[in-house]
Amino acid sequence: MLAIIGGSGLTRLAGLAVSHRQVASTPYGEPSAALSFGHLAGRPVVFLARHGDQHGIPPHQVNYRANIWALAEARVLGIVAVAAVGSIRADLKPGDLVLPEQIIDYTWGRPSTFHEGPGATVAHIDFTEPYDHALRQRLRAAAAATGSRLADAAVYAATQGPRLESAAEINRLERDGADVVGMTGMPEAALARELALPYAAINVVANFAAGRGDSRAGISLEAIHAVLAASMQQVHAIIETMLGD
Ligand code: HPA
Repeated sequence: MLAIIGGSGLTRLAGLAVSHRQVASTPYGEPSAALSFGHLAGRPVVFLARHGDQHGIPPHQVNYRANIWALAEARVLGIVAVAAVGSIRADLKPGDLVLPEQIIDYTWGRPSTFHEGPGATVAHIDFTEPYDHALRQRLRAAAAATGSRLADAAVYAATQGPRLESAAEINRLERDGADVVGMTGMPEAALARELALPYAAINVVANFAAGRGDSRAGISLEAIHAVLAASMQQVHAIIETMLGD
């Protein structure tokens, strides 16, 4: 069974025939929402809304540990995370889909490991390649099969949020080598790795990042939501195709 974590613009997985919902409890508290178990393209899937069913949990307050722990307890074989991003690059435009390959983590103060607290042992996971190779390959193939362009080899910068960045911050992220910027990719990816769960992400470009493209005059949340609604249909098609293969 595969898990889908939905972000902004994807609080439900249309087409998912939900068989049951489970409010999970974990040693780290409750996940963002009940886990929705069901079938998509005839395959078992569990869906979790990262920001809660009502989109009420901001990126820095998502209980990433509870989310990943609950999915591991549900015995998922892998996680596909969907997340909105801002584009730092001129050639990645609002509405485009991106398959990130690397991460730079600028978040702070988020509980970001299972290996702390009473009785815990110290662990240092290998994170050279933060995303799972095989899952990325499946996403790439599914995108090709659905005729969706999926920009590959992108570097994802994880910022703290919930505010958007300043123009100078985006310039810095570009100098650091980042292509897209979002607020939820970490510690999610690292926690999945700690539990040896294959994890990959699809990013939907919601807007040009601060100071770039048409965002020079500021970023409108209404515009972001309109873009997300359209692109999520493509994300859907990719996920369904990937599952059906
Ligand atoms: N910055 C950070 N996170 C985001 C953005 C952005 O511009 N757009 C969507 N998520």
